[in-house]
Amino acid sequence: MAVRDNTASDDQEQQISRAHHDHDHDHDEIDQNALRNAIEEQEHQTNNNNDDDDDESSVSSESLQKHHITSIDATLFTRLIPSRGLSFQLWPAAAALVNLLDRHVADPTTSPISNFLAGRPNRSLRILELGSGTGMVGIAAAAMLGANVTVTDLPHVLSNLRFNAEQNGKVISLRGGFVSVEALRWGEVEDVEGLMVDGPFDLVLGSDVVYYEELFEPLMKTLCWLLLGGRGRGGGGSSGGVFLMAHLKRWKKESGFFRKARKVFSVEKVHTDAPLQGARNGVVVYSFASKK
Ligand SMILES: C[S@@+](CC[C@H](N)C(=O)[O-])C[C@H]1O[C@@H](n2cnc3c(N)ncnc32)[C@H](O)[C@@H]1O
Repeated sequence: MAVRDNTASDDQEQQISRAHHDHDHDHDEIDQNALRNAIEEQEHQTNNNNDDDDDESSVSSESLQKHHITSIDATLFTRLIPSRGLSFQLWPAAAALVNLLDRHVADPTTSPISNFLAGRPNRSLRILELGSGTGMVGIAAAAMLGANVTVTDLPHVLSNLRFNAEQNGKVISLRGGFVSVEALRWGEVEDVEGLMVDGPFDLVLGSDVVYYEELFEPLMKTLCWLLLGGRGRGGGGSSGGVFLMAHLKRWKKESGFFRKARKVFSVEKVHTDAPLQGARNGVVVYSFASKK
């Protein structure tokens, strides 16, 4: 297993830049094929894997990526397995959200996300991450904020998520945090209910989870169940929680997701990163909260 210093492998760099850099000047869309190929590859993996795939012999290429978190002077490691598809890579929106959390912890007084991360009396912040992929965002949040974080994804992604959570267990627990790994399939109400037995989460995190039109509706349903409680199920209410989502705009059709979201949530831009070299857009961090 290779250990890399906070840089993507050459293959991954190419895959990420193919998917994320804007080449299509006619359509204001960036290389659709690269991401679609990655998605098809993931679907192929999903079909070929058991629900919770622990068969490490099928791993064809992997690397341990090293991330230094300046605010807590700690190093985190995540295992990436690009050959298994997009759930096993670290996407730029995740890196941007980790950087924003790092800057928040270093200086909360100038942080645009302070309002969402205020501590709770006598207990840790309870955070849920949707579509965690490698788990870097949730793991970093647990370590930086001493938070109790549930990282979630589709069943076939969980063995790598568990590996990454365990890999960083010491740093997380030294900082008073905790990470648990659970399946949460968007649009499946029983998955959400199973995770909310202890009450609503204070904060929901997500990075690069809006990319495929078929997933907009199930993701929205899950957000409603998590953040609006009874109202999401047709009754009235709000959990008071907020969804912080890091997003890199690729395709025009994504505005369909934001249109749906604005009907039920108050959606605000809380931070915008400068575009990566050669890209039209930078990562934007949005907050989604219950409308008053
Ligand atoms: C582009 S990746 C982003 C991964 C990670 N958040 C990051 O930014 O590095 C999208 C993630 O959403 C997950 N995902 C896709 N469809 C899903 C669904 N129906 N339910 C739950 N997770 C899903 C994928 O497995 C994948 O991990």
